[in-house]
Amino acid sequence: MKAIVTGAAGFIGHTLVKRLLDEGYEVVGVDCFTDYYNIDIKRRNIDTIPNQNNNFTLVEADLRTVDLGALLSDAEVIFHQAGQPGVRKSWGNDFLHYTEMNINATQRLLEAARAAKNLKRLVYASSSSVYGDAETYPTKETDLPRPVSPYGVSKLAAEHLCSLYAKNFGIPITSLRYFTVYGPSQRPDMAFTRFLRAAIDRSSISIFGDGTQVRDFTYVDDIVNANLMCSQSTEAPGSIYNVAGGSNASVNDVLKVIEEITGSPLNVEYVTSVVGDVKRTGGDITSISSSVGWEPNVNLRSGLERHWEWAQSVYRA
Ligand code: NAD
Ligand code: UGA
Repeated sequence: MKAIVTGAAGFIGHTLVKRLLDEGYEVVGVDCFTDYYNIDIKRRNIDTIPNQNNNFTLVEADLRTVDLGALLSDAEVIFHQAGQPGVRKSWGNDFLHYTEMNINATQRLLEAARAAKNLKRLVYASSSSVYGDAETYPTKETDLPRPVSPYGVSKLAAEHLCSLYAKNFGIPITSLRYFTVYGPSQRPDMAFTRFLRAAIDRSSISIFGDGTQVRDFTYVDDIVNANLMCSQSTEAPGSIYNVAGGSNASVNDVLKVIEEITGSPLNVEYVTSVVGDVKRTGGDITSISSSVGWEPNVNLRSGLERHWEWAQSVYRA
């Protein structure tokens, strides 16, 4: 089975590539190594991909310019993980990166997918940020998405494009709304990697607001499982699913668990909350569970233990 993974050097992308290789896929990864965070981290991600059987090829290219016709010609599954992430950075002039990498790059990929004759499934990495401050919790896929960050707007726009291309051209697309993903190799701008790194350096942690904001944190291997299960399903084009870990934990709850795991008190300061951060996320997973049988396997405590182990291997001098 030949798979394309866009964003293959990123946190989720390279974790997915490793799993696909384990499962015997031939994988072509595409990434243009954006400088949203340190490029050395992305190089390191790629270096951790075992490639004994030469089943992995990296194409270092931008989805906005690469010859997608040639790239997708014999693709059977496409996992579209490439994008400009990060809720808090998406205001101001930076928004251009979000429209370019999340909307324009996705539209170009979808156009090319129309001609991919062997394509069985395209899975798009959507986001819980499409919901904004939701009206109900746990939030269902049918609840009105009303993003509160420019990032969320760009992810929702791309998701709508996926739905349009599925509906009008029959492209077998599934959109997965990931809820705050964590685990080994989590991006350096995200909360858990920042917190664990500060625990190692004994530096201070800035909490945006009072720490009562709640997230439905999801372990990265569970996200990878959802991608695989959905890529193998034969359901109608255009389905949209929440992929949520079920933690229902506040940032303050997380700090307590980290103190237990690391055995030391954290140095925490509370600073002004950031515009665009939602107060709570919580996803109803009934739909993905009944359609493809996905459920999270890793709870917050054991996921954080694995994240801690990884952080020590990378950040402890
Ligand atoms: P990441 O930044 O680690 O990975 C994204 C990768 O895409 C990067 O390596 C980047 O260089 C690459 N990329 C960006 N634009 C590209 C382009 N035009 N052409 C080629 N490569 C390009 O981010 P991540 O945390 O692994 O997120 C992966 C996807 O999942 C993103 O689309 C993100 O919006 C989505 N998502 C992430 C989370 C999360 O909690 N991490 C939650 C919801 C959704
Ligand atoms: C994450 C990803 O960064 C987005 O790319 C993704 O789309 C989104 O999840 C999603 O679920 O859709 P976020 O929930 O902000 O966004 O993830 P973290 O960066 O891990 O932050 C979690 C919480 O910790 C937020 O409430 C944030 O305000 C808080 N935080 C983060 C701090 O208080 N301090 C920090 O230094 C970092």
